[in-house]
Amino acid sequence: MPTGKKQTTIVEIARIANTSTATVSRVLSGADYPVSEALREAVKKAAREMNYVPNAIGQSLKIGKSQDIGVIIPNFTNPFYMQMISGIESVCRKEGYNPIFCSSNNDSAREIGSIELLRRKCVEGLILSSIHKSAKELQAALRLHKHVVLFDQEATLDTCDYVSFDFESGGFLAVDYLLKHGHRRIAFLTAPLENRASRSALYRGCQRAVHQWPGQAYCELISTDVQVEDYKTWEYENGRLLAREFLRLSPLPTAAFVYNDVTAIGVMSQLAADGVRIPEDVSVMGFDNIITTEYTTPPLTTVSQPAFDTGAMATRIILDKIMGTNMANCRINLHPQLIERKSVKNLNDDMEGDC
Ligand code: RIB
Repeated sequence: MPTGKKQTTIVEIARIANTSTATVSRVLSGADYPVSEALREAVKKAAREMNYVPNAIGQSLKIGKSQDIGVIIPNFTNPFYMQMISGIESVCRKEGYNPIFCSSNNDSAREIGSIELLRRKCVEGLILSSIHKSAKELQAALRLHKHVVLFDQEATLDTCDYVSFDFESGGFLAVDYLLKHGHRRIAFLTAPLENRASRSALYRGCQRAVHQWPGQAYCELISTDVQVEDYKTWEYENGRLLAREFLRLSPLPTAAFVYNDVTAIGVMSQLAADGVRIPEDVSVMGFDNIITTEYTTPPLTTVSQPAFDTGAMATRIILDKIMGTNMANCRINLHPQLIERKSVKNLNDDMEGDC
């Protein structure tokens, strides 16, 4: 049953202005078609008086342009993705486009559903952080989308553009920093590696760093996937579980490098609950540089992955393709930067004191 106010249609405007619906449509869409000035004014006056609001869906179907950009991210709870969304929003807003945001909730079937839904909504471009393991399946799902930019993953599909990030160098940078601060027993705390190429790349970087100290340093892998009722808490709770597994290790590593900041916050909360002091007893290093890490106790030393810029660049690439101003295949690779705060202890200071 219809509810609310009835919308004015162009049929009613045509009746009042005493003309055809085709003429009303031409006048209201600003089409370059000869219509007398008097008739043009009569149509506009009728539209104004009847509070005519053009139907966006009808218009986009007619001109084949929705002015919408689809965005799919793994979750709405990790601030990394919120910073990324702000980058998308700011470029879209400047150019008069509307982003439509979907979350896959780390579920590949849901991701495919969103790819299909956004296609049916006729988005003009798609920005995606895919959690798909199979590149082939992903390529098949994306085939009806004209312009796609992938981020947060390694560039494997020829048909898509990428704003990638050098995760391996990020892993190297983090562990190399710990080594330079005297740590030799290090653990890499992560969600399962097989779900995201980015995590495997980080771990490769960790290993490359410890190989600089053969026989003297190691980086032990700890991976967990906690079961939670409320998905929103998954990364924090997984951090708590990772910390409990970490504390079982003997000898206890002096430093934990965590694959993302949200999980590192969960790790820190469990360590604090168990009376472990950071960084006096155990050093903790995060990854991403989400804003919250400035406000943790102690402030978290981390590696920056530029989330806002990633979103802004991905959107720029899509809009250039839509507007036809740059059709070249794009492969941008962003680089990590170490952000030094207070959660890593310099063990070299202790050694100097011992002499
Ligand atoms: O916190 C988000 C980051 O962790 C992303 O880089 C993603 O790859 C995840 O694993």
